[in-house]
Amino acid sequence: MCSIIGILSKDIVAPALVESLKRMEYRGYDSVGIATLSTNKISVRKGIGKVGQVNSSLNLAGMEGFVGIGHTRWATHGGVTEYNAHPHSCCTNNIAVVHNGIIENYLSLKEELVKKGHIFRSETDSEVIAHLLEEYYNTGKDIKRAMMETVNQLEGSYAFVAMFANGTLSCARLDEPLVIGISDNTYYASSDVLGFLQYTDQAIFLDNRDMAIIDKAGVSIVNFSGEPGTRSITKVAWELADANKGEFAHYTIKEIFEQRISVKAATYQDEHKIKTFCDSIVSANNILVTGSGSSYHTSLIISMMGSRFLKKRFEPVMASEFQYNMDSIDKDTVIMAISQSGETADVLSATKLAREAGAKILSIVNVQTSSLARTADVSLSIKSGPEIGVAATKSFTGQVSLAYAILDRISGGKIGFDREVISDKISKMLAQQESIERLVNITMPKVNDIYLLGRSIHFPIALEGALKMKELAYVHAEGIAAGELKHGPLALMDKNAVVFVLNPDDRTYSDMLSSAYQVKARGAKIIGISNVPNDIYDAMIEIPKIDNDLLYPLIEIIPLQLFSYYLALQNNANPDFPRNLAKSVTVR
Ligand code: F6R
Repeated sequence: MCSIIGILSKDIVAPALVESLKRMEYRGYDSVGIATLSTNKISVRKGIGKVGQVNSSLNLAGMEGFVGIGHTRWATHGGVTEYNAHPHSCCTNNIAVVHNGIIENYLSLKEELVKKGHIFRSETDSEVIAHLLEEYYNTGKDIKRAMMETVNQLEGSYAFVAMFANGTLSCARLDEPLVIGISDNTYYASSDVLGFLQYTDQAIFLDNRDMAIIDKAGVSIVNFSGEPGTRSITKVAWELADANKGEFAHYTIKEIFEQRISVKAATYQDEHKIKTFCDSIVSANNILVTGSGSSYHTSLIISMMGSRFLKKRFEPVMASEFQYNMDSIDKDTVIMAISQSGETADVLSATKLAREAGAKILSIVNVQTSSLARTADVSLSIKSGPEIGVAATKSFTGQVSLAYAILDRISGGKIGFDREVISDKISKMLAQQESIERLVNITMPKVNDIYLLGRSIHFPIALEGALKMKELAYVHAEGIAAGELKHGPLALMDKNAVVFVLNPDDRTYSDMLSSAYQVKARGAKIIGISNVPNDIYDAMIEIPKIDNDLLYPLIEIIPLQLFSYYLALQNNANPDFPRNLAKSVTVR
């Protein structure tokens, strides 16, 4: 949930640290800090706010030094304050640390350290790392030994980078991402390749329980027991240009528009890999599909479509609930794990448990170099390019598109998936951008409650649309399986409610109209999302007609994304960085 970066270079590092933090700000953005080493002295500047704001007020980029570390924070332990912002220094100020993750036993460690005379300046769990390193380093002046002793004490999940006053960087990872970047002049240790991709595409992905020590002589990697390891250098493929907003006001709207292309990109797969992926599904007795948030909504669609067209039981399980649903998992089980980032802690923990129970892991990710992709038996990437906006948009449709292509292939074409048709209909939907913006302005002032009704494959879209409205626009929104209205939610309907009715002319159409009448009778305002006009709608977003009605979910999500985006602007929310959220949820 935080981003960490360390840089050792022949050039001044502060401007690159600031740039890296800006690119990784999606991971957390409540406070920022940098420490650099200049004339054997560590200086720290940190403050509350986003990277741009803190840089403007404290001139982070103007700090001296050829070695430095930086951090953007998403608070877990301790409030959003300057003293809780990273980096944290030890008592003698000869070690500074940035950390991502949670140190579960920090209270007992802190108590011990305080007894030994250490003085703590923050409420964070992270600060114990600086003091532990100090404790062990001061006794032997051996960084490798101090790192081994320190990681031996830590419980939880973490990636951290420590800077020592002798000019060495050291870092370690356990269940949180950490990747080393290497260029001619410079070494990077970063939470994400985006932290250095603008400078080098040469990366070493550290394994769990790896530590790296970086000094002018180079990088040496050892495991937590101190045994040396060799890790290969990977060339990272993403184009840097993709991580810019271009002519768009926000990443979110840019990424919504990119869906014309990304739904197609997701379906071009290496033949051998997709065959292995599909064969594993065919030979499985038991298939569980898991993910979090939007990726869980994809899991719902996969499960519905898979059960219907492959005549096999697919069970969707929220990744955060997975540990409580382990009973049916054995060696004949296949887990399909869906994740944009491939770093979501709940998903990684679910796949770890399933693997221990003998299951095979198939993953669908966007980030090909992520932990999930690297640990799965087979992994396919949706190839959407970096998704910077915190809300999932193009990654959601990329996942659904690839899932359709996979199920179509296994079922011998029963789904009739056609990427060109989808892309064309999405373009038509995007062309309604301005009318959807107007609709927001007309219908939304003073609306506190939005409901989205759908049946069958439209129900996951109702959930996904509601999630977009909550996270982007901070409005209460709820996706409801329309048949459930009469079992409770109907009591909420009155003239203050706005209800979206997902109602293309497929087999759910007439039942959906009845649901619309039920809410209309209670005074709610109805927005129909349909290709068939009807007087019952107070407003209608017309979706293009598709011959193959199974494809509607990929189309009807587009107006809901656009609606949420414009609602966010109307509510003065920053759509790219919703409050209290982070793009990559690497804590459980
Ligand atoms: C919603 C959203 C989150 C993510 C969830 C899973 O717009 O962005 O709900 O979908 O945190 O993230 P990934 O897909 O990276 O595992």
